[in-house]
Amino acid sequence: MNKEKELTKLADEIAKCRLCRQWGEGKAVPGEGDPDAEIMFIGEAPGKEEAKAGRPFIGRSGKFLREMMQEIGLDDRDVFITSPVHYLPVRGTPSKENILHGREHLFRQLAVIDPKTVVLLGNTACLAVLDRKAQITKEHGHVIERDGRKYLITFHPASAMRFPAAKKAFIADFKKLERMLGKSRK
Ligand code: URA
Repeated sequence: MNKEKELTKLADEIAKCRLCRQWGEGKAVPGEGDPDAEIMFIGEAPGKEEAKAGRPFIGRSGKFLREMMQEIGLDDRDVFITSPVHYLPVRGTPSKENILHGREHLFRQLAVIDPKTVVLLGNTACLAVLDRKAQITKEHGHVIERDGRKYLITFHPASAMRFPAAKKAFIADFKKLERMLGKSRK
């Protein structure tokens, strides 16, 4: 099966997943982008606008994230954008149980797309992928190499928009990402 078909099948499984739906509401937001993306962005969970449209990062923080991609020369159609939790959490923030379940779908997306670089946007992404809590204020900008991939830790764009220090750090982390990609581009 090719990557696109596998991702469509996964999106279908997410849309039908009884456990995911139990903790969330609105449309499923399975993620979107290039099935062959070399870069994947992982957020937290859809917000209200995302749950209405079934698309990731299309609200205020999403616009900011997509602008930052543009700033460093990334077209949002060439990356893959997703999250560990694929439905708007009924309680606002996703529970640990919700994250640990939802990440199983995310892990399969990671295995299919097999990106070289993964950007972890905030705590939930770190908890889901690195399997531990991260102190984003201290660890942002760090790159962890695992399974032949590079994982860059940074803030969630919503935090970066809210706190000036986080915004400054987020911009610096994107500059670092630009340098990392420059090195690995053929
Ligand atoms: N925050 C996320 O983590 N994902 C979205 O899709 C929107 C907001």
